[in-house]
Amino acid sequence: MTAIELKNINKDYGTGISKVQVLSDVSFKAHSGELSLVLGPSGSGKSTFLTIAGGLQRPTSGQVLIDGQDISRFSEKQRDEIRLNQIGFVLQSYNLLSYLSVADQFALVDRVHKGNLSPDRLEKLLQELGIDQLVNKFPDELSGGQNQRVAIARALYTDPAIILADEPTAALDSERVKVVGRLMKEMAKQYDKAVVVVTHDLRLKDFADRIYQIMDGKMTEQPLNA
Ligand SMILES: Nc1ncnc2c1ncn2[C@@H]1O[C@H](COP(=O)(O)OP(=O)(O)OP(=O)(O)O)[C@@H](O)[C@H]1O
Ligand SMILES: [Mg+2]
Repeated sequence: MTAIELKNINKDYGTGISKVQVLSDVSFKAHSGELSLVLGPSGSGKSTFLTIAGGLQRPTSGQVLIDGQDISRFSEKQRDEIRLNQIGFVLQSYNLLSYLSVADQFALVDRVHKGNLSPDRLEKLLQELGIDQLVNKFPDELSGGQNQRVAIARALYTDPAIILADEPTAALDSERVKVVGRLMKEMAKQYDKAVVVVTHDLRLKDFADRIYQIMDGKMTEQPLNA
């Protein structure tokens, strides 16, 4: 099933002589049960692509369909709802709240969203990510890699149909990269989620069902074993 579809997306930043076109006629589909990897060098537009795909910002032109619905026609409130209910974001900046402990980052989600992972499944997820001993810590007491894994767990906690992850392994060593790669793949295979990861981490290629490249604003699909 197509979970997210981008049709002919263009994105410019700025106007007049300072205008830069970051995405140029990008079309893309993410399917349930698949892990799609989008590769590209720094500044190529990966975060721009992912935030547009998840309705966090609007394209200059083109359509974004989530579950077949054109979200460009949605009100802010409807977009907030679809994000909360269908999408798990792992943002490049982690977006953890500095004044909440790790446990409370999840408790906060419980206040705004129902149907989250059971305590057992959350505990298993935290163990898998190697952060189960850190629940009473605050973000500034954790390393970058630990915060990154908390952010991943929080994104998965709402059991979203779609997972959008921006450089989820940037701060991780090779062993942790494999853990996260396997986890993302398991989310797709075992739980039938559509998983989209944007990254320049080539170590994630082994886990992907499809690989795309963004270069000079254009997106192209790459063969899997290149
Ligand atoms: N809000 C903005 N206003 C103006 N230019 C922007 C804005 N956001 C991004 N850009 C520019 O758009 C281009 C793409 O940025 P983007 O963050 O999408 O790249 P990226 O591939 O995610 O990079 P990185 O790998 O460093 O995270 C860059 O040249 C960036 O400077
Ligand atoms: Mg980025």
